[in-house]
Amino acid sequence: YGTQTINDQGHLTIGGTDSVELAKKYGTPLYVYDIQLFRDRARAFQETFEKAGIGYQVAYASKAFSTIGIYQVAAEEKLSLDVVSAGELYTAVKAGFPVEKIHFHGNNKSVEELQMAFEVGIGCIVVDNFYEIELLKKLSEQLAQPMNILLRVTPGIEAHTHDYITTGQEDSKFGFDLKNGQADRAFEQTFDHNYLNLLGLHCHIGSQIFDTGAFQLASEKLMQKMASWKEQFNYTCPVLNLGGGFGIRYTEEDTPLEPAVYVEQMIETVKLTANASGYPIPEIWIEPGRSLIGDAGTTLYTIGSTKEVPGTRKYAAVDGGMSDNIRPALYGAKYSSVIANNADASLTEQYTIAGKCCESGDKLIEQAELPAVVAGDILGIFCTGAYGYSMASNYNRIARPAVVFVENGVSQLVVKRETNDDLIKQDLPYSQKADQE
Ligand code: LLP
Repeated sequence: YGTQTINDQGHLTIGGTDSVELAKKYGTPLYVYDIQLFRDRARAFQETFEKAGIGYQVAYASKAFSTIGIYQVAAEEKLSLDVVSAGELYTAVKAGFPVEKIHFHGNNKSVEELQMAFEVGIGCIVVDNFYEIELLKKLSEQLAQPMNILLRVTPGIEAHTHDYITTGQEDSKFGFDLKNGQADRAFEQTFDHNYLNLLGLHCHIGSQIFDTGAFQLASEKLMQKMASWKEQFNYTCPVLNLGGGFGIRYTEEDTPLEPAVYVEQMIETVKLTANASGYPIPEIWIEPGRSLIGDAGTTLYTIGSTKEVPGTRKYAAVDGGMSDNIRPALYGAKYSSVIANNADASLTEQYTIAGKCCESGDKLIEQAELPAVVAGDILGIFCTGAYGYSMASNYNRIARPAVVFVENGVSQLVVKRETNDDLIKQDLPYSQKADQE
């Protein structure tokens, strides 16, 4: 992946740095991010839009991995940003991310979160439901402050990996349905409001999607809806946001397309539908998370205990697990791996990579093809950049790992490893006496 190679000591290198040295210097488990790869992915999306000569925003869906450091890189790469909570927004503001390029998502944004969005002067709010429309009307009127909005709709398409289904019934906690008139009502409630500036429609049809059909169908449906509003209300929406969800290759079984291909197909469909209905071609916004940051991340672990269940399998246990990567336990997600200090050895064994959490389901890889391992070996698991650190927990009171960025042969710590003191920082002693006072 990316800038990874094997050096003459047989060590895995990432971003021109020796991963075994990284493990020594920063300890394990360790999230290592190949920042050049993130930049390359961002540019691939942007260049496709540039080539097509079409207005666009590529917003990094930062739920995939949210830290001050990555927000700074995203800003350098002229990306926009998708945030989904006060915490992500706060982090972005602290990172100095240009607020006018931040989009705020969520199906239950609190009043405080919306106030914060107005206060910092956020670029756009993706409105999810009627309750939020009421809150936004009230807030914008009270503050006499305009706000750009998109309406999130559920187009009745669900996409996963190679398949998508068109569901007649649109059962999702997110967004306004197209089918039963919710989107129309949301449009009527917002398009001529004094302070709410309706930019257009948004949808997000799924994650880890491998083909373009579902995106094409979604663009068609949303474009048709916007065209119908132009006809009926003479209102033209300048923006169409088609969400994220572009797949990546975790293992050889995964066969995603190049990022550019998804975008080319989208542009094509939007142009066709626009021309067919005499609609001006809108700006296309997308929100990739995984496909920007997923394969940039590698987690380094140290192997400790091993165990053989005779005739069944061999276990090799690492010093992390579901606390730093919940995806295998939660979704049955698959990963590939390497012994970083022995990266060119032949793969003669199969191990189940177990975590250290007190839970039998805490396995990171079911059947990892590796050379014979010994305690102290460094295991690298690839493609952990998205939804790894961001979904990490302190289960079993395990401290969360450090995060290091590597680029051009240089490594830099961007999130410190948690300490045991960090783990009890928010705890307060309990005393019945204090309660009675
Ligand atoms: N936009 C919206 C509105 C979303 O809900 C999401 C992801 C994205 C963009 C980015 O999707 P991506 O390009 O990363 O697929 N925790 C799960 C993934 C949950 C995705 C939630 N929404 C996982 O680890 O696979």
